[in-house]
Amino acid sequence: NDVIRLGLAGFGTVGSGVAKVIAENGELIRRRTGKRLHIKTVLVRNLTKARAFDPGQETSFTSDPSRLWADPEIDIVVELMGGTTTAYDIIEASLNAGKHVVTANKALLAERGRPLFQLAGEKGLGLYYEASVAGGIPIVQTLKESLAANRIEKIVGILNGTANYVLSEMTTSNLEFETALEQAKLLGYAEADPTLDIEGIDAAHKLIMLIRLAYGAHYPFEQLPVTGISGVTSEDIRLVYEFGYRLKLIGQAREVDGKIEAGVFPALVKYTYLLARVGGNYNAVRVEANAAGPLMFSGQGAGGLPTGSAVLADILSLVKCCGKPDNTGFTEIALPDADILDPDL
Ligand code: NDP
Ligand code: HSE
Repeated sequence: NDVIRLGLAGFGTVGSGVAKVIAENGELIRRRTGKRLHIKTVLVRNLTKARAFDPGQETSFTSDPSRLWADPEIDIVVELMGGTTTAYDIIEASLNAGKHVVTANKALLAERGRPLFQLAGEKGLGLYYEASVAGGIPIVQTLKESLAANRIEKIVGILNGTANYVLSEMTTSNLEFETALEQAKLLGYAEADPTLDIEGIDAAHKLIMLIRLAYGAHYPFEQLPVTGISGVTSEDIRLVYEFGYRLKLIGQAREVDGKIEAGVFPALVKYTYLLARVGGNYNAVRVEANAAGPLMFSGQGAGGLPTGSAVLADILSLVKCCGKPDNTGFTEIALPDADILDPDL
């Protein structure tokens, strides 16, 4: 069968981004893989809402979630709706129905991912999530595959595009915090609840996923120290700039004496550092790997097309290898006694 039929849960910024990439690159993908990707069904809340992108007449819209997992023709269910309840139920039902799942939902995986990964493992199905961390940057595959032979000494990065956009626009365009945040929402970068971006929660979700990939460890989300950027003023930004620094929302994890220290916090980064120069909706992830050495990845961390690219990378991985169970054998980890993390950029 040379057609892979997809069921999409959600057709907002990311869902329509996926459809746009398929419309633009579908022929290229077919030549590379021998498969045609067809979005058969799309689940949305509001069937009468005007859509920014029309996926064509071969795609039908529904508000009934069971149409995704109960349809024997659908090969892969792609969860792009967000939230930690209905999305959980859809992924669970899809795995139970024997479907591979791709998701961009870091909140769900960080807070309630364990039983889903376990279920995927038991069923021998793929539960893939490249798009859940750092948008278009291929950091999940990199940690899983390319750096598989390395001990990861440290990961530090800018993991939230909205917060970085707000801080960058306050610095370079003198925008007020609220104005910059409104722009980030209009551009499709922010979460449905932008407090998650501004208070560091979204970056924390992504850091939990990076810890899982780098250390094979389950770090309890509720124990991660998190400070956001909601208190930052234009005056703070001006002073930081005058002293030769840039304010960045940083997520960091490192192994110290067999324990994992991790946290999300705003930090002053010297303007000469690469991280200081990562602007707009961009994310950056610096990985210190014991054999490969230090590596730096940077790219758009939010938005429909970059995130759609990451979602399609997972779909194509599944198409190529029919889905392997994810690494479900992760362990409990020791946490440091003190939960204060010294920035160490
Ligand atoms: P949007 O708010 O733009 O889109 C959400 C979509 O899901 C909408 O089509 C909505 O339907 C549908 N939906 C939401 N709840 C339900 C429900 N209960 N039943 C049926 N349909 C529902 O979100 P995004 O596209 O921005 O984000 C989607 C996911 O991707 C989230 O997990 C987010 O964290 C993640 N993500 C987002 C990125 C981004 O740049 N925006 C980047 C990386 C990950 P309707 O249109 O009818 O309202
Ligand atoms: N709201 C998220 C961000 C989307 O701004 O980074 C990408 O995960």
